[in-house]
Amino acid sequence: MTIDGIGAAYDAASDGWRAGPERMYARMAEVLADHAPVDPLDMAGARVLDAGAGTGVAGEALRRRGASTVVAVDLAPGMLPRAPALSTVGDLARLPFADGAFDLAAAAFSLNHFEDPVPAMAELRRVATALVASAYAPDWSHPAKEAIEGVLVRHGYQPPEWYAVVRADANPSPSELEEFARRAGYAEARAVTLDVATGMDTAADLVDWRFGMAHTAPYVDTLAPDDRARLRADAEAAVAGLPPLVVAMIVLSAR
Ligand SMILES: C[S@@+](CC[C@H](N)C(=O)[O-])C[C@H]1O[C@@H](n2cnc3c(N)ncnc32)[C@H](O)[C@@H]1O
Repeated sequence: MTIDGIGAAYDAASDGWRAGPERMYARMAEVLADHAPVDPLDMAGARVLDAGAGTGVAGEALRRRGASTVVAVDLAPGMLPRAPALSTVGDLARLPFADGAFDLAAAAFSLNHFEDPVPAMAELRRVATALVASAYAPDWSHPAKEAIEGVLVRHGYQPPEWYAVVRADANPSPSELEEFARRAGYAEARAVTLDVATGMDTAADLVDWRFGMAHTAPYVDTLAPDDRARLRADAEAAVAGLPPLVVAMIVLSAR
């Protein structure tokens, strides 16, 4: 079931997302695209659904590898690519596409927004022959997350209710993701964990990342410019000297 409030939250966060998280998700999308279970020769001309597309970085990575048609679908209209040749507002749980309309569905960090991702995976399987999906490894974190959340809370921020729901569900392991895919009807499923250097290396990058996420950007946006500048200075001081952002990312390929 789709979590209440999540589409509105991403919609409200879309400017902040483009100012920060988009850069790291674009790096991770390149790795996702390299693991698509489609023969490179077959990729030329492939019809791809970018499922939970956000700003469309996964679809773009697949287009660079030869996909001829990329359709982006997302709950949040503000997140969708701004030059939308083919962008549609829609829910992964009830896709407005015919059976077998696509060769590949790419679900980059979108299936983790479901308490139970199996029905959405089954819906992706209905419309696309193959699936490539990404998720955060269950034991992965970065110290900037806690450091910046602490600063935000001291400045009056409270996490929205939907974020507590997303965070309460532990991220699945590679073998759990493979099992979800089999339950969704895929005959073959393989998940691997990869370290991705995101290029978000400075204190300012780490703050751009955390301030642009859907659970924080709407709050940061409400602040007056002086308050926002004070918040940013405190957050950058809190993460000075922390390691670069390298994400342990699971990539699931299924068909
Ligand atoms: C973490 S972002 C990732 C965006 C993009 N795939 C990327 O890698 O940059 C998750 C996206 O999934 C979308 N999303 C969450 N639940 C969804 C649902 N039920 N149907 C469609 N999109 C959904 C959100 O609106 C958001 O844009």
